[in-house]
Amino acid sequence: MSLRSFHWQRFAGLLILSLVLAACATTEQPSAARQTSVPPRVQPDTSGVTDNSDPGDAARGEQLFAESIGGMPSCSTCHALDSAQIVGPGMAGISERAESRVRGQTAAEYLHTSIVDPGEYVVEGYQNVMPDVFEQSLSEAEIRALIAYLLSL
Ligand code: HEC
Repeated sequence: MSLRSFHWQRFAGLLILSLVLAACATTEQPSAARQTSVPPRVQPDTSGVTDNSDPGDAARGEQLFAESIGGMPSCSTCHALDSAQIVGPGMAGISERAESRVRGQTAAEYLHTSIVDPGEYVVEGYQNVMPDVFEQSLSEAEIRALIAYLLSL
């Protein structure tokens, strides 16, 4: 073994060692940092699910009921608060009625579906003309607020 190749081997060995150490340092540090900086991912996907533990803000729901949402007429344009029929059924007694509309659905579940997917259950004697924009135009909290308001009627 010549002196030259001996040096080269030592140099190569040191180079490989330092590369391995550098690789360890760069791969381990960010993952350790990631573990401590990212909050636990426990946000369940609640879209389409009625969370009964969150009752919703009925006062906010009352406001929303009278507002134009997604460029559509307000809920109150089509729904009276008494039993009068406008375009849709009047909301008097909706909390009891909602409970028994669809077998297996609670009142809150029925109201949720009525708002986000109105064509899913069309009330007898009415046309399927309720806009289906509300799922896109309302946040889940706003939908829950509307449900809380309707249940309070
Ligand atoms: C353009 C008119 C129109 C608008 C606006 C409208 N709806 Fe309706 N809605 C209807 C009609 C018609 C029905 C009955 C047919 C059906 O079941 O889809 C109905 C049905 C319902 C029902 C079921 C009632 C029952 O007796 O079972 C609920 C609840 C409801 N709407 C809530 C709302 C809410 C909340 C809004 C506002 C975010 C709204 N609607 C906006 C026309 C409308």
